[in-house]
Amino acid sequence: MTDKRTQEKAWVINQTEMIPGIMDLLIKAPKTAAAAAPGQFVSVYCADKSRLLPRPISICDADKFTGALRLVYRVGGAGTEEFSKLGPGETIRIQGPLGNGFPLDADIQSVLIVGGGIGIPPLLYLAKNLTVKKTLVMGYPSVTYLDEELAQHGDLYIATEDGSRGTKGNVINAMEENGLTADAIMACGPLPMLKALKQYGAAHSMSVIISMEERMACGIGACLACVCNSTEKDPYLNISKKRVCLEGPVFDAREVEL
Ligand SMILES: Cc1cc2nc3c(=O)[nH]c(=O)nc-3n(C[C@H](O)[C@H](O)[C@H](O)COP(=O)(O)OP(=O)(O)OC[C@H]3O[C@@H](n4cnc5c(N)ncnc54)[C@H](O)[C@@H]3O)c2cc1C
Ligand code: FES
Repeated sequence: MTDKRTQEKAWVINQTEMIPGIMDLLIKAPKTAAAAAPGQFVSVYCADKSRLLPRPISICDADKFTGALRLVYRVGGAGTEEFSKLGPGETIRIQGPLGNGFPLDADIQSVLIVGGGIGIPPLLYLAKNLTVKKTLVMGYPSVTYLDEELAQHGDLYIATEDGSRGTKGNVINAMEENGLTADAIMACGPLPMLKALKQYGAAHSMSVIISMEERMACGIGACLACVCNSTEKDPYLNISKKRVCLEGPVFDAREVEL
C-alpha cells in the first residue's frame, strides 16, 4: 500500500455520546478521508502539551466526497477525556491514515465480520466496503452500540455478557449457537477474543484476519513501541517481530503469535 499519510488540522463537525462512555466524533479532515481504507487508524494529538503522545483511534467511517471522518472511541484516560469535550467548530490535529487496513480484494465469497467491545467501530467501515456475502457477529458487555448501522450490511448476531440481548456470553458462543461459518473471518477486539477466533477458524477451515491493538508511541514505524511476536523472521533484521502500527494493525492470524 502506498504511503498516503498526512498531518492535518481537522474541524469538529459534531460530537455525541452514543452510550455512556462511548463518543461518536465527526470531523472534517479531507486529506485523511480521501486516502482512508477500512482497518486503518489515525493518531489524534492532544491540545494539552503535557500529553505528547498521540492516541491511535480506528477509522469508523470516511467520506471521500464530503471529507468527513468518523471516530468512535471509549473515554478512558486523560487524552480521550480531553477529546470528549470537543464541540462543533473546534479543531484537532491528526495524522493518518496509518497502518495497512483489511484486504478488500481477498479471494473469498463470504466473510464473518466479528467484533468485540471497542474493536467494533472499524468494522462498520469494513462492512460498508466489502462486497462479498457478510455475516456480522458483535459482542458487548451489555449495552449495544452501532448495531443498527451494522445490521444494514448483513445478518447481525449479537452476544452480550449479561444476556440482555442475543446470545448470553461471547461472540464464540453466538457463532457456535448459530453454526456460523464462512470462507474467512475478519475481526477486531480484545486479545482473548482474537485467540479464540484463531482456534475457531482452524477448526472450521476458515482463514482468520485480525486487527491487533498494542500500545503505541510514534504510530509510524519509527520507535518499535508497538511490536508483537511474529511467526515469520524478518530476513534483514533477523528478528521475529512485527510493528503493529506499520506492518499491521491487520494481520493474517497465522503471521502473529497471540
Ligand atoms: C490501532 C489502534 C486502534 C484503536 N482504535 C480505537 C478506537 O477506534 N476506539 C477506541 O476507543 N480505542 C481505540 N484504540 C485504543 C486507544 O488508542 C486507547 O484507548 C487510547 O490511546 C487511550 O488513551 P487515553 O488518553 O484514554 O488513555 P491514557 O491512559 O491517558 O493513555 C496514555 C498513553 O497510553 C496509550 N494507550 C493507552 N491505552 C492504549 C491502547 N489500548 N492502545 C494503544 N495505546 C494506548 C495512549 O495512546 C497514551 O499514549 C486503538 C488502539 C490502537 C493501537
Ligand atoms: S508505535 Fe512506533 S513503531 Fe509502532
